[in-house]
Amino acid sequence: MKKIILIGLFSALPIVVFNSCHTSNSQTLAAKTADDDSYITIDTSKISNDEFGESVRYGKELMLKTAYYIGPNGIKGKYLGNKMNCTNCHQDAGTKPYAFNLMSSHDNYPQYRGRENKVLTLAERVNNCIMRPHSGKPLPLDGKEMVAFLSYFKWISKFVPKDGDFKGAKNLEIEFPDVAASPERGKALFVENCARCHGNNGEGQYNADKSGYTYPPLWGEYGYQPGSSMHRVIKQAQWLKSNMPYDKVTPEKPYLTDIEALDIAAYVNDDAIHSRPNPKTFDYPNKMGKPIDYAHSPFNDNFSEEQHKYGPYKPIVAYWKKNGWKAVY
Ligand code: HEC
Ligand code: HEC
Repeated sequence: MKKIILIGLFSALPIVVFNSCHTSNSQTLAAKTADDDSYITIDTSKISNDEFGESVRYGKELMLKTAYYIGPNGIKGKYLGNKMNCTNCHQDAGTKPYAFNLMSSHDNYPQYRGRENKVLTLAERVNNCIMRPHSGKPLPLDGKEMVAFLSYFKWISKFVPKDGDFKGAKNLEIEFPDVAASPERGKALFVENCARCHGNNGEGQYNADKSGYTYPPLWGEYGYQPGSSMHRVIKQAQWLKSNMPYDKVTPEKPYLTDIEALDIAAYVNDDAIHSRPNPKTFDYPNKMGKPIDYAHSPFNDNFSEEQHKYGPYKPIVAYWKKNGWKAVY
């Protein structure tokens, strides 16, 4: 694995700024100082002062202040159904390590996607996030906003090795316990670790002018939809491990244990207690490509929806392996 530094798109101080997703110049940080040589360095002063550079800068703005530009009251068009910003999940505008990092995305598309069972362009993949976590309608593929997202992704991709292997490219892994994840245990952990920012009812908290959130919602009518990858228990736990609680974790120093992260993700994503917009799910026409924690039958195995959702996952992975298939999650 290459040793690279990720600093400088924002600033290099190892502090946490809560409101960072809502002002374009604010600094959510890449969590490492200049002394640490393990992450990629991005130098925003290198964005060119020409038309392409302008598109790159607008793309970064859109990542940080998505709702302000294209939210329900967006000044550039009303596309999103909620006021979350892309950076709420793809933190530091998609450049934070272990946070659904997007620095290789421009190199990795067009790509086959199991969920649609076809090859998607990066623009189509962006629209998937607009439609699911953001409950929105797709951006026109040739509009200024989509072109800006793609320009920005192209620009940040210049800093990563072309084989896509760099520190923090993928989220941290979770080791599966022998037991199922428990929404009940997760509830107590949520109250202890999450509610002070996201609220007891997962409703989050708007920022001062309500153009976005200081703390985004986790469920309810403005939360992400069930068809979103964040709704999958393993997927969310991998992200929580290096990203939440926001003020207590750094990319390499998880705060939650693996089982705590799974329990909390199970609680957040328990549809029996938490409602979400548009419960319609998006099926995987090809069962082989369906992630094991995507809890909607039919499956390629006989495990229940309950077990697919909460585990124990080890028997599912073992069954797939025995058949010579690769379990996705
Ligand atoms: C609620 C969280 C959330 C929000 C908000 C969100 N995304 Fe995503 N996004 C995800 C998850 C989860 C994935 C899947 C990552 C994976 O499978 O590793 C993803 C995947 C992607 C990918 C594909 C990455 C790749 O290389 O395969 C792109 C591009 C993307 N998102 C762009 C966006 C954009 C642009 C926005 C804002 C309009 C956005 N996302 C908002 C959670 C989110
Ligand atoms: C100190 C405040 C704080 C605490 C505590 C905290 N979060 Fe967050 N959370 C945030 C902020 C701020 C963001 C948006 C990050 C960004 O934009 O860079 C966020 C984003 C998220 C997101 C992605 C966006 C969304 O709304 O779907 C999830 C999921 C999440 N947090 C879950 C949790 C869970 C679970 C816990 C408890 C383990 C937790 N958070 C604890 C502040 C907090």
